[in-house]
Amino acid sequence: MKSEVIVVGAGGHAKVCIELLQAQGNKVAYCVGNPDSPDKCLDIPVLKSDDHLPALRKDGYERVFIAIGSNLLRNKLAKKVTEMGFRLVNAISPAATVSPSASLGVGIAVMAGAVINAEATISDLCIVNTGATIDHDCVIGLAVHIAPQCALAGNVHVGNLSFVGVGSKIIPEIHIGESVMVGAGSVVISNVGSATTVVGVPAKVIYKI
Ligand SMILES: CC(C)(COP(=O)(O)OP(=O)(O)OC[C@H]1O[C@@H](n2cnc3c(N)ncnc32)[C@H](O)[C@@H]1OP(=O)(O)O)[C@@H](O)C(=O)NCCC(=O)NCCS
Repeated sequence: MKSEVIVVGAGGHAKVCIELLQAQGNKVAYCVGNPDSPDKCLDIPVLKSDDHLPALRKDGYERVFIAIGSNLLRNKLAKKVTEMGFRLVNAISPAATVSPSASLGVGIAVMAGAVINAEATISDLCIVNTGATIDHDCVIGLAVHIAPQCALAGNVHVGNLSFVGVGSKIIPEIHIGESVMVGAGSVVISNVGSATTVVGVPAKVIYKI
């Protein structure tokens, strides 16, 4: 088996994730993009279709990271590669602070300056972006994206596939449902039902899906 990592995605988010993987001592062999992707992502060659994945697996690659910002697509591609026999790895910045009592799933990105505090749970495929803080006992669901500079106080729950926009704040004990969008700069002070978009200070519902 080959130890190099295959990165699925070849955009800006992939660039950050490649550098996180390299900072952890990994070698990234290829990115897998789409026909519109550039030839290289940083200095990594880009294969321009998911159709390359079975051949890569056959060739002995088994470690993969899904570097796609869209929560739905990241989750879908993770299922696809796992079914092919790939194993999801984590991309965690050496400049992030992760409590030894926090629990982390697989396929997770934790960017520089992020802080994950005591007994927080970060589920598979989450992105904890640059400088975001997740305080004690928070439970972050599957394929959630916590954008840069968010601050989640203690005991906040965020449901599967939700997105918390850049610079948002969430007060303690709040429960956010599944597939929620929290707009940039919001301050969430009450629970949020699933499949809604909330914005503002304090955050209010603008859409229900
Ligand atoms: C919340 C969000 C998803 C809504 O996007 P949208 O569905 O395209 O909504 P619109 O831009 O049409 O805005 C709808 C209304 O909500 C308001 N609104 C949108 N985002 C807002 C925000 N973050 N805070 C306050 N009001 C906001 C708009 O002004 C508009 O109000 P109006 O109807 O009175 O004119 C988007 O504005 C947002 O905040 N995205 C976060 C992006 C981000 O953090 N990315 C990080 C990547 S790492």
